[in-house]
Amino acid sequence: MNKKFVGKILAAVVSLSMVISITGCGKSKSTVNAAQTTKDTKLDQIKKSGKLVVGTSADYPPYEFHKSVNGNDKIIGFDITIANEIAKNLGVKLEIKDMSFDGLLPALQTGNVDLVVAGMSPTDERKKSIDFSNVYYKSINSVMVRTEDKDKIKTIADLKGKKVGVQKGTTQEQIAKDKMPGSEAKSLSKVTDLVLQLQNKKVDAIIVEAPVAASYANKNSNISVSGVKVENEEHGSAIAFKKGNDDFVKAVNSTLDRLTKSNSINKFVIDANNQVE
Ligand code: ARG
Repeated sequence: MNKKFVGKILAAVVSLSMVISITGCGKSKSTVNAAQTTKDTKLDQIKKSGKLVVGTSADYPPYEFHKSVNGNDKIIGFDITIANEIAKNLGVKLEIKDMSFDGLLPALQTGNVDLVVAGMSPTDERKKSIDFSNVYYKSINSVMVRTEDKDKIKTIADLKGKKVGVQKGTTQEQIAKDKMPGSEAKSLSKVTDLVLQLQNKKVDAIIVEAPVAASYANKNSNISVSGVKVENEEHGSAIAFKKGNDDFVKAVNSTLDRLTKSNSINKFVIDANNQVE
């Protein structure tokens, strides 16, 4: 064998192995790409789409409510400010979808919304089917009544034989059923409708979170916060996620952490209260 021939064979082997390594490279690259698209987490998808879709029930001032700003209907409230901070931290735009409270968890499950921010309490029952962030706000429940009845309705016993309005699918609905056996619970989808029913004497009381009762009472002189104590323990609001999105929950918790530590959430609550018309 002469040197030239050996050289040629060597060159052929080298270029062949280059071809193999190039195609090998190409192959592994495309497999990695395919794996990445199937492995995209919800959080990755949101960042790629540039949009965070939040579901809420905008009938709950100061948490979330409608307000006409320069003739345009807007949804505002401290939950919305928090949702905005989350979107900002993720570097995406915020889109709000307003629906009835009992439609929120189905919307989360079907992927119609990415998150639920609606003053939702992280109950054990809900935790079976969805995940929650850390609690970002705490309150107790209150009962609102017509101002003319304020002196007559002071305890749960005073609500015996009366109609108690509650929002469908809420913890308050459960309280009315479990702790007020003498009263007739009436469930509606929107708190705004319950308030109209209270004013029109279709219900005699409404259970909501204390800041909400205070807000409606401030706005309507014919509505007052009663002295009725439905329970003593404080419970919180948390953000709801479809199960199995741990990186997303972590990212949201880090925003909530920052807002809590800087006392910003309390400030958002005050701002929201000032904006209730
Ligand atoms: N905290 C209660 C619950 O989780 C009521 C929340 C109602 N929220 C609303 N935006 N209407 O069931």
